[in-house]
Amino acid sequence: MKKGIKLTAIVGAALLAACSPAKQAEETKVSALLQHEDSITKIIEQMTLEEKVNMLHGKTMFSSAGVERLGIPDLYYADGPFGIREELEAKSWRPLGLTTDSATFFPTGSALAATWDKDIAYQYGKGMAIEAKLRGKDMILGPAMNIQRLPTGGRTYEYLSEDPYLSGQLALGYTLGAQDNGVAVCLKHYALNNQETRRGTVDVQVSDRAMREIYLAPFEVAVREGDAYGVMAAYNKVRGKWCSENEFLLTQVLRDEWGFKGIVISDWGGTHNAKAVVAGLNVEMPSEDFLGPTLVDSVKAGVIPESAINERVRELLRVRLAIEPVPADKANQVVTSQPAQQKISYDVATKSIVLLKNDNHILPVRLEKGKKIAVIGDNATATQALRGIGAGVKVRYEITPLMGLLRNCRAAGVEVKFAQGYKGYTAMERFQRVSPYHEADKKLMDEAVALAKECDLVIFVAGENRDIETEGSDRTCIDMPAGQNEVIQKIAEVNPNIVTVVVAGAPLDLRVIDQYSKALVYSWYNGTEGGHALADVLTGVVSPSGRLPFTLPKQLNDSPAWSLGVAPDNQLSAEERDIFEDLVAQRDRSVQLPGGTADYKEGLLVGYRWFSTKNIAPLYAFGHGLSYATFEYSNLKAAVKGQHIEVSFSLKNTGSCDADEVAQVYVGRPDSKIERPKFELKDFCRVALKAGESKTVSLTIPVSRLAHWDEASNGWKVENGAAVIHVGSASDDFKADATVQI
Ligand code: BGC
Repeated sequence: MKKGIKLTAIVGAALLAACSPAKQAEETKVSALLQHEDSITKIIEQMTLEEKVNMLHGKTMFSSAGVERLGIPDLYYADGPFGIREELEAKSWRPLGLTTDSATFFPTGSALAATWDKDIAYQYGKGMAIEAKLRGKDMILGPAMNIQRLPTGGRTYEYLSEDPYLSGQLALGYTLGAQDNGVAVCLKHYALNNQETRRGTVDVQVSDRAMREIYLAPFEVAVREGDAYGVMAAYNKVRGKWCSENEFLLTQVLRDEWGFKGIVISDWGGTHNAKAVVAGLNVEMPSEDFLGPTLVDSVKAGVIPESAINERVRELLRVRLAIEPVPADKANQVVTSQPAQQKISYDVATKSIVLLKNDNHILPVRLEKGKKIAVIGDNATATQALRGIGAGVKVRYEITPLMGLLRNCRAAGVEVKFAQGYKGYTAMERFQRVSPYHEADKKLMDEAVALAKECDLVIFVAGENRDIETEGSDRTCIDMPAGQNEVIQKIAEVNPNIVTVVVAGAPLDLRVIDQYSKALVYSWYNGTEGGHALADVLTGVVSPSGRLPFTLPKQLNDSPAWSLGVAPDNQLSAEERDIFEDLVAQRDRSVQLPGGTADYKEGLLVGYRWFSTKNIAPLYAFGHGLSYATFEYSNLKAAVKGQHIEVSFSLKNTGSCDADEVAQVYVGRPDSKIERPKFELKDFCRVALKAGESKTVSLTIPVSRLAHWDEASNGWKVENGAAVIHVGSASDDFKADATVQI
């Protein structure tokens, strides 16, 4: 662990009782959904049973019915956490082919999380809401916010982080940004949908503590503090019960404990029983197999009480009355993607790019006239908006890395030449189940080497694409695909000046790439403006300021689920492969792979909690990311004041360019009587500093944020004793420590 200055301040505080009860989320908002309760009662009194049940299932693929007779409009859902999905036919996945539904592609989840910026998450939610409104939508199916438990997880790119605090804060920003701008969010996928392998059947076994502290915590924050209006029940089972009919998750925790007043909709095809309505499910999407005529019969037969239906309808009406509907003749009148949202997408992308290493200050690229740059790699020209399975974005445009670099370089008289270098994985290969992991294509590699030889600098755009990382299946490994390790080695033989840009939404084994690259940059699936953002960071228009939202392990086997032998078994039998191919080809979510249990044996030790506690060095740690500037931390003070820990420190930009620093606060409990990770992220702050500028950063951490889930009393508790506050630039780069007594 690298250490800068080390300050230790022992700040005494009156000792409290051994443990005091606490709640984990800091503030429970009074829900804005409760404003129309009396009118809702009157509406429900006028409704027939059939009209009520008609609201509880999909009307089209992405809408559920209102009550026309009573002037209650339908509810329209906008798919996609990172852009408003194109319009589809009413009852199929086929696009309608409109000319107005090209939307802004926002950087995907892990890119948003890499900004470590709550304000930009708000802007992201706002941008999504503005475009959703232009399309007549009421609820965005996002943010997608499951914890990135497995480096191989197929939807890691969509999800935010391996850390619950970071995930929760960004989901909260997104939620507030969207709902302040008139569109509801739908937090997904609730809960414990941390793998795609057998996602439709897998039964998650997890301890109460890990469930509460790691997996439910981000949802709790977005519900309690963000007043999220919607939640999507996940496909999987938790402790033997489908999420869509899990009374514990949907009623006990979500509604009774967290005070959720909105609606739960099932994931598409994720409903299994009419009784789900009693457990707390409001809408079966997109069909009516269970919450349709069968439900009417069940109520008439006295199997399901009408009072349960009334409750679910009440919750639906709350959302319907809180969100102003867009009249049909106002929707889809202009193209969805508009400059203001494209600018948000650019801002997110710029802040998300992570500089992992920068030997000899090879970056920023100095744009000297006459210089020749080789841009190598299929990902330099690949687009990522509409690939793989699941919600994508039909874009108005997408700036690729090569387009961005050409713009910046040509303006400065620098010559840019391109070679593909390796074969990009295609949708056809994915359908045919051809592996992305194979030897380099000799011809493409030779061309790339020849180009590298005649250039001053190589920008190798490596990584994956959204046909490799996709909904519906996990990756089998985290290897670099398409022989990229071989390609970079051959390039390095003729030109050692290599800057590698990794385009990916999830961890990769970068050991070889790292060895042959002087600089290494993670640049995600970075949206409509991704190429401009990348070029601006590489050429020094903006200093990089993104931070890893997940650990980059040296190898997969170092990760907790692999170390403990509980990684998902994605080896399929011949019969399962047939089913899987049907699923992939027909997008039929009713066909599911059978069985499977996921044993979350690592408990709390997810991501960096595992690596730091077990002293396993990752390749790059959670929170890591360099800048073109340098920062100095000093004067750390920490003290308990009432129910809060006040932390302050000075931060100085000691470099020669303006830059943002992401200051991170981790807390360890060295004398704890219970098992704990070595330290955990408890706060962070992005600070913009001009060259030479200093600022005092003050953070207030509620003591309740240090609470753990006490399994014996089934509640949150704060343990008394020492709390070590580590302040620094990354989870392996603490600059100052202070100890307070709780
Ligand atoms: C995904 C959801 C998505 C829904 C509608 C499901 O397969 O899990 O995230 O919103 O499809 O496309």
